[in-house]
Amino acid sequence: MKISKTRKKDIKGSRIVLVKKGEKHFGFITDPSEQAYINERLGGDKNTALLNHLDHVDLVRSLDKEDIPLSIRLENARKAGFEIHAMLIDHDVASVTVINGGVDPEECVAFTEGMALTNYQFLKYLTDPRSKIHSLNEISLYDEGLTDDHVKKLENLVQAVYLTRDLVNEPLSYLTATQLSAEIENMGKVSGFSVEVFNKLKIETLKMGGLLAVNKGSIDPPTFSILTWKPENAVNDHPIVLVGKGIVYDTGGLSLKSTHDSMDYMKSDMGGGAAVAGAFYAVAKNKLPVWMIGLVPATDNRPDGNAYVPGDVITMYDGSTVEVLNTDAEGRMILADALSYAKQYDPELLIELSTLTGSALMAIDKFGMVGMGNASREVMENIKASGEYTSERVAEFPFWDEYKEQLKSDIADLKNIGGKYAGAITAGKFLEHFTDYPYIHLDIAGPSFNKAPFNYRGKGGSGVGVRILYNFLLDRSH
Ligand code: BES
Ligand code: MN
Ligand code: ZN
Repeated sequence: MKISKTRKKDIKGSRIVLVKKGEKHFGFITDPSEQAYINERLGGDKNTALLNHLDHVDLVRSLDKEDIPLSIRLENARKAGFEIHAMLIDHDVASVTVINGGVDPEECVAFTEGMALTNYQFLKYLTDPRSKIHSLNEISLYDEGLTDDHVKKLENLVQAVYLTRDLVNEPLSYLTATQLSAEIENMGKVSGFSVEVFNKLKIETLKMGGLLAVNKGSIDPPTFSILTWKPENAVNDHPIVLVGKGIVYDTGGLSLKSTHDSMDYMKSDMGGGAAVAGAFYAVAKNKLPVWMIGLVPATDNRPDGNAYVPGDVITMYDGSTVEVLNTDAEGRMILADALSYAKQYDPELLIELSTLTGSALMAIDKFGMVGMGNASREVMENIKASGEYTSERVAEFPFWDEYKEQLKSDIADLKNIGGKYAGAITAGKFLEHFTDYPYIHLDIAGPSFNKAPFNYRGKGGSGVGVRILYNFLLDRSH
């Protein structure tokens, strides 16, 4: 999606004027009878007026009054972008100008973001997509409160979410671990971050036992991607490390999932890894002055003649031993090795994102991610604030040490599953065992994939994680 800023007063083509609810400020619509029509529509309980000028449409949309909290106004603006998008497509609009007619510039950005994210489509596998392709391909912004730079950065962020969604939507028939690494390398080339990919031999040499155990049932090799963004003007002396789960398909392994409603969307089990790659893309494109390292361990999880079995004891990368009691708790096995590997960077903070537990999904559904960690209160509050600002919300769960009891094994240092209760937390506590730095765990099992359309977040991969991480890193960079 092309998004740019315009300074032209006399805007040609289709327009959307954003106004504050209850205010009669339609400077951009000059015709008195049109003004009367708009005032009448928006004066009642309607929030949108459409004027069809045959060769273009003009829309006036009212947004919230100032008395509503900013994060809610921004989310409502994104949802308004979603609603207006359908009208534009219905009228075959290809290019539109969003005009700030008296709202906050941040609402103008959020509206455009919502509209642009709604326009996303994954049509790669249709032999004839022509009748489906959305007409819209260009949005201009007319808003004196915004610079060219603001708008360019929005365009890059939207592109980062698109790329993340593409990765999540790609099936295993294309997106093996090797291909995921190749896609990350490509995103690095386009945006400017560097990527190193460890192959199976290197992973064996390093003795990443967790990643290798999960990979045993696969005919495809695992990969371990290392992303680096280290600008000269970085504000931090120690890197911020992002870790993402890269299970390109989760059958459950020998602890096999049932297919219906359980296995059938598990191509999305690399949503954390995809979000890390997307966040790097946005950060590098927008040249944020923060030193970052990204780690994405990747493999599929399958049952096969040589698959790891319940009862196996695995020696992990850091030397600890894990008794595997469920091969479907595979995410923590591969992530544990990445978390131990991260110790060498002496990170200021590590944020790990993963579609880790059904328990997180059961607890809060698709409306947010489950977060926990041992980072400082200030850092936790910052990440939650970024979650509110972007509406990629974090519901913080407790991270009490009592939950570690559930992970005690008779024959190994720990086992890979806890008991019946608090499954999202015991998974987080398992991972914490492999850290020695401030750590935040974000379980995105709920919001990463939408089986049904969910406003501007779409159907299929939502790209969740990219916007919260980007916003958090943007705040950290000044
Ligand atoms: N990838 C799944 C978690 C998941 C479930 C993601 C639903 C998205 C939607 C994960 O690998 C898994 O299978 N977790 C198990 C852990 C259990 C065996 C301890 C789960 O949550 O059932
Ligand atoms: Mn699993
Ligand atoms: Zn999984």
